[in-house]
Amino acid sequence: MDKETLEIPKNTPQHVAIIMDGNGRWASARGLPRLAGHRAGTENLRTIIEAAVEFNIQYLTIYAFSTENWKRPEQEVKGLMRIFRNMLDRELKNLHENGVQLRHLGQLDPIDQDLQRRVKEAIELTKDNTRLILNVAFNYGGRDEILHAVKNIIKDSLAPEEIDADVFSQYLYTAESPDPDLIIRTSGELRCSNFLLWQGAYSEWYYAPAYWPDFDREELLKALVDYDQRDRRFGTISPQ
Ligand code: IPE
Ligand code: IPE
Ligand code: MG
Repeated sequence: MDKETLEIPKNTPQHVAIIMDGNGRWASARGLPRLAGHRAGTENLRTIIEAAVEFNIQYLTIYAFSTENWKRPEQEVKGLMRIFRNMLDRELKNLHENGVQLRHLGQLDPIDQDLQRRVKEAIELTKDNTRLILNVAFNYGGRDEILHAVKNIIKDSLAPEEIDADVFSQYLYTAESPDPDLIIRTSGELRCSNFLLWQGAYSEWYYAPAYWPDFDREELLKALVDYDQRDRRFGTISPQ
């Protein structure tokens, strides 16, 4: 596809979710430490958030840190937390002024108190914004989310006949968002790594070879053009 000729499709997905992968390899390829890749990755977020607004995407969900990422070396985990905190400090004002509403997916409890407080303040500050809903999956895991939902359903003493897919969805971290139409994974990996296990049941997948720091506006546009050509059947058949 020639990127010069790409036009923004009329029917862009309402909800795009991204597995922002490849920061470490981006850095290694340049002889830099992995944390330099994470810094470049967070810089790239601003570009993609602006592009999402331009493309009329209403919900953008980003996978920033998984429940399994705690298993990385302590130095990388600490560095990542510091980078997230700096990013929040630096970008919050701009996000708020641009009408972005921040939401969090995952468990905040295990996170450093100071970062927790900043995340909660950011959520509170932006709660009435409607231009773009930005779900940040941070200490998020799909299995953790499903277990968390089951535990809360038990705590609420729901009877089996009261539980259906809609009710169950309301117990997930994404209760306020529709299911993602399109899930993008950068860096060429072909797996879901515990992301949106329930919500992704009928999502379209798009795999980009680019490492996350190189996944720019044009790359996102390519994904949207590709999505526009998909035939989503949801188990039924296309109209004849
Ligand atoms: C994604 O990049 C960012 C996080 C998981 C926090 P990686 O750090 O996974 O980069 P690679 O996959 O090792 O290149
Ligand atoms: C998934 O990427 C998590 C995030 C992008 C935050 P990983 O790099 O952690 O996934 P695996 O380990 O390659 O499956
Ligand atoms: Mg990775």
